[in-house]
Amino acid sequence: MNSTVENAPLLSIQDVSKRFGGTHASSNLSLDLYPGEVLALAGDNGAGKSTLIKMISGVHQPDSGEIIYQGQTISHRTPHEVRELGIETIYQDLALADNLDVGINIFLGRERMKRVLGLPVLDRKFMRQEAIGALRHLGIELNDMTMPVRYLSGGQRQAIAISRAVYWKAKILIMDEPTAALGVPEQREVKDLIKRLQSEGVAIIFISHNLNDIFEVSDRIFVLERGRKAGERLIADTNEDEVVAMMMGRVLDN
Ligand SMILES: Nc1ncnc2c1ncn2[C@@H]1O[C@H](COP(=O)(O)OP(=O)(O)O)[C@@H](O)[C@H]1O
Ligand SMILES: [Mg+2]
Repeated sequence: MNSTVENAPLLSIQDVSKRFGGTHASSNLSLDLYPGEVLALAGDNGAGKSTLIKMISGVHQPDSGEIIYQGQTISHRTPHEVRELGIETIYQDLALADNLDVGINIFLGRERMKRVLGLPVLDRKFMRQEAIGALRHLGIELNDMTMPVRYLSGGQRQAIAISRAVYWKAKILIMDEPTAALGVPEQREVKDLIKRLQSEGVAIIFISHNLNDIFEVSDRIFVLERGRKAGERLIADTNEDEVVAMMMGRVLDN
């Protein structure tokens, strides 16, 4: 990806630290993300991956350092504000409303209302039509759009979460272990969706334990070890052995 050298970073994490009591969950981390780039965040359990993305998404505030997005600091924004700015995060638990249909899930927190006899009610038809379009845009067809999403497969649920980000024109999509709970064919579909989004210029931060997935879809990898940066590489310039060594804190050339 030569966009990496041509453009200014979309997101710039600058010397960010975060402690929970005595735990240094993030220690002086700096990281840039460029438009259309897939960046993998790797590291063992407890390395600080989720803490870092939660500081981007507004769930946690850094103790020190800055997070700059499109030239402005977002270090003290709420999760809602960060989403409105175009940074969507899909957590491991997905945060879909299981009892509601796909349409409402695409609009969750941003529901479209209409007036009936002067009273505001959910405009389910509008949201369903928009959802059909959003899914179709990603090459996904669901037979029954009225079904509560809890009856859908893991891959379909993941696709809905991704469609939501696309529908609201996210510039950055952050995914925490998107393929962890999926079967192999569904993992394939999610990886294809990631590639699709990338080709549309969306930057993606992708947390995974699965090095195969990382090597398949990422342009760059950033490795954390006990809250510290253990290494950063272009995928083309590294291999699984080196990444594992970084995860164990055995590569000290940063
Ligand atoms: N809300 C929290 N309160 C206290 N400790 C936390 C909290 N969130 C994370 N931690 C601690 O911070 C460290 C990093 O956690 P986390 O970012 O979840 O790692 P990862 O996602 O890489 O597994 C761990 O030691 C974890 O126990
Ligand atoms: Mg985590």
